[in-house]
Amino acid sequence: MSRFSDGVNGQIAYEFGASQQYVAIAAHYDAQTLPRLAAHFYRQAVEERNHAMMMVQYLLDADEPVLIPGVEPPRAEFADVVAPVRLALEQEKRVTAQIADLVKLAREESELVGEQFLHWFLQEQREEVSSMSALLHVVERSSDNVMLVEDYLARESGGENPLEVGAPPAAGGAL
Ligand SMILES: [Fe+2]
Ligand SMILES: [Fe+2]
Repeated sequence: MSRFSDGVNGQIAYEFGASQQYVAIAAHYDAQTLPRLAAHFYRQAVEERNHAMMMVQYLLDADEPVLIPGVEPPRAEFADVVAPVRLALEQEKRVTAQIADLVKLAREESELVGEQFLHWFLQEQREEVSSMSALLHVVERSSDNVMLVEDYLARESGGENPLEVGAPPAAGGAL
């Protein structure tokens, strides 16, 4: 397996790990009857799963091995209503750095098709860091009245993410 394909297989684990972390956060909010926060993170979990499946499709197209590695267990207990969103923002920043490292690896290895595949993910990370950072502002500002966060999400969420339009195909189809 090429070094680049090995890196993509590693990133598949990080994307599934991100998906599981978002399921854990969604269930945490759901258990507290915060349905909008829960729905937001259930949706994010599906998006991360789709990112992993886009990478699976890339490896299939490139005729490279698909490993589906195991993932680190997510954090499921949180001190307060802000902590999960803070963790989510840290996770998005970490994934941004991981994708950037993969792009650098693609350049080192002259994997130009692979580098082009990753460009969408760079754009996606910019959007995800930005929207999670905005949500953190709202949650921090409303930490003593979390229903304001629910109202905010009811008002502001919805509408198709324009970046999803140019998204790479996902193995088995995106959910
Ligand atoms: Fe992702
Ligand atoms: Fe993400």
